[in-house]
Amino acid sequence: MRAYHAKKMNKEANYLYQAWKITENEFLVDSNHQNEAIFSLGNGYMGLRGTLEEDYPGSEETTTPGFYINGVYAAEEIIYGEKAPNLPQKGQTIVNLADWSEINLYINEEKFNLLKGKILDYQRELNLKKGILNREIIWEDRQGRKLKIKISRLISLSREHIGAIRYQVKPLNFSGKLSINSAVNGDVSNHHHLREKKPLKVLATKVETKTGYLLHQLKTTKFKIAYVVEHLMDEQTKARSEIKKRASNNRVDWIFEIKAAEGQLYTIDKIVGVNHCQKKAKNPLSAARASVARASINGFENLVAEQTKFMSGYWQDVDVKINGDDSLQQAFRFNAFHILQATGKDGQTSVAAKGISGEHYEGHYFWDTESYVLPFYAFQRPEVARNLLLFRYNTLDQARKNADRMKLDGALFPWRTINGQEASGFFMGSTVQYHINADIAYAVNLYYQVSRDQDFMENYGLEILIETARMWISLGSYIPMRDNQFCFNVVCGPDEYKPGVNNNAYTNYMAKFNLDTAVKMAQLIKAKAPEKYESLIKSINFSENELKNMKEIKEDIYLPYSKELEITPQDDSFLYKDPIEIDSISEAELPLVKNWHPLIIWRYQVIKQADVILLMLQLGNKFSRELKIRNYDYYEPKTTHDSSLSPAIYSIIAAEIGYKNQAYNYFMQTARLDLDDYNENAYQGVHTACMGGTWLALVQGFAGMRMFNNKLYFHPHLPDKWDSYQFRIYFKGSQLEVTVSQDKVKYLLISGQKIEFKHYDQIVILEKNNLSQELKI
Ligand code: BGC
Repeated sequence: MRAYHAKKMNKEANYLYQAWKITENEFLVDSNHQNEAIFSLGNGYMGLRGTLEEDYPGSEETTTPGFYINGVYAAEEIIYGEKAPNLPQKGQTIVNLADWSEINLYINEEKFNLLKGKILDYQRELNLKKGILNREIIWEDRQGRKLKIKISRLISLSREHIGAIRYQVKPLNFSGKLSINSAVNGDVSNHHHLREKKPLKVLATKVETKTGYLLHQLKTTKFKIAYVVEHLMDEQTKARSEIKKRASNNRVDWIFEIKAAEGQLYTIDKIVGVNHCQKKAKNPLSAARASVARASINGFENLVAEQTKFMSGYWQDVDVKINGDDSLQQAFRFNAFHILQATGKDGQTSVAAKGISGEHYEGHYFWDTESYVLPFYAFQRPEVARNLLLFRYNTLDQARKNADRMKLDGALFPWRTINGQEASGFFMGSTVQYHINADIAYAVNLYYQVSRDQDFMENYGLEILIETARMWISLGSYIPMRDNQFCFNVVCGPDEYKPGVNNNAYTNYMAKFNLDTAVKMAQLIKAKAPEKYESLIKSINFSENELKNMKEIKEDIYLPYSKELEITPQDDSFLYKDPIEIDSISEAELPLVKNWHPLIIWRYQVIKQADVILLMLQLGNKFSRELKIRNYDYYEPKTTHDSSLSPAIYSIIAAEIGYKNQAYNYFMQTARLDLDDYNENAYQGVHTACMGGTWLALVQGFAGMRMFNNKLYFHPHLPDKWDSYQFRIYFKGSQLEVTVSQDKVKYLLISGQKIEFKHYDQIVILEKNNLSQELKI
């Protein structure tokens, strides 16, 4: 491992290594910001950062509270230093919405504040098994009065519009007045990105004895957001409290004044319903009210029970078991939990780079979803993968317009987006990455091969494949100086340190794959569902001639190879740039993206993230083992891994070519990135692609799983430091459990008809449920 990376990783663990929990045992001001991301909760629809319920007097350096709805954004004009034609006009930024988690507690007039008085006991615990965040504090105020406070919160995974907090207090050595002030604070703004300091206006507030609401509207995009609250109290609390309430123009407050008796526990449950809509005539209030009414009838305990049940179903499919390393066991569960929380599942939203756990990257969806998160779902929860692809299908029209903007045919998916339009103001870091089209096409194929979802391919998938393929045909051209091969000029592969190059190998190979899949699927659907096919080609004006043209061009695509070095050149100019080994760059200058002018980066053979190496994973059947080794040896010393998307992919290829130590070291750089905060930026929000990458690194790296041409392969081995590991995947409707231990692997068919795959060179067929086979590694 490089010194730079080793140093980043060589930190004291922030959390105890617990199999199902992340625990904070002491409140430390310095950890607060990271914890806001680590303890964030979400359900794909909405996300709440792990900010404390009570006011926390920190600056934006130490606290950035946030509540977001996936896909709810503000649009501001992009300001360009220098203008050029056809640049995107408006950005899209996820918006920090009302804080409904606010609850302050007073003993008489003394406010509970972690920075004052004494914390006698403190524990916050994210329970991954149940999907619940608990906090328990024993606090003594400046007059020696001691209180026990217990707070549980959840964002319901089975009711997407519901969040809830159970707030409990017990005076330990006194009797007297306790006031619990619960609120919805609509006076909020973004911490980053938006110029407009007040992007939201409050349309209405209303407060009744225990219920009330606040209605927001986004000034630029007109989204309306309703937050409806209902408070439930236990008998004891009801009997002893008086409720005061007030609504101002930007917040609603309830104050529960309790005549508290020493040793008695008082409980208030805050059930919150959140809903939004963008249509002028519609009001999200009634939907939010209905959600709250239903959830309140069930009560907090039932919400907890539902959450536990939901999580237990999830873990049935996605739980990876690692024996022999507790830190990794914890990491797998933490990552899988956050992936779940981040994922929009309604076909209208997707997975943002930071999930719904922070404002960084503006809540944008990138290729991260299709290339890093989608495989996680395709093999474990295929129905979610389908919905992620439906998001792309539902934004095809915007992608068509985006292609038009670039004088291209078909559809060009945006590099960064929320609403389907390109949201980036820096085309050399965005639009130039045309490869996103092929990444989406690759994901369409992956999902289809794994699920055999014919309906999806006929109604949605094929249209995406054809429209993305059309873009390539119009982008590329036959270049005489390249033996008249079909080339793609002025592009950028995944390595963002090399934009505007000709014939990036990843791009060319993946474009060929995109065309090839479009042609094959067109032929298949034409044969299987001729009526569907006819109606599709009519609606998108696709002709037999165009199909023929695609067939021809895909054979002519230039696939770079350097005879001299016997490697795959990353692009036409890469090998002619100034060679540099990253070990020669001083640590202070890394990551380069933050320290070097782009023009400096561009003149060196320096790589931000896996590019040719990623290609050797996605289309690994097109490369010999020898070529993989040569490519790895050439590119590895030139890669800074300045993107968290990189180490997982290097780990996978290192595992494949037998570089065991490197495979392990790169794996370790990916698995606990947020938990151990290697990049010191976890506070910004979790790294969802890296989390998906961890799963890929286990299943495709150590277990060597591949799927090519509709067939499944395993080449498993066990890292020396572990005793065993186990995971489950779905393939064509069957669920398979794979357990890898010292020198054998057990394949067990959990459900489904029959499964066939290859273990190294041996064909394995499991015909019936519960049948298993043990094979030697
Ligand atoms: C990476 C991109 C990625 C983006 C969002 C960038 O640093 O280079 O590949 O899509 O982050 O995660």
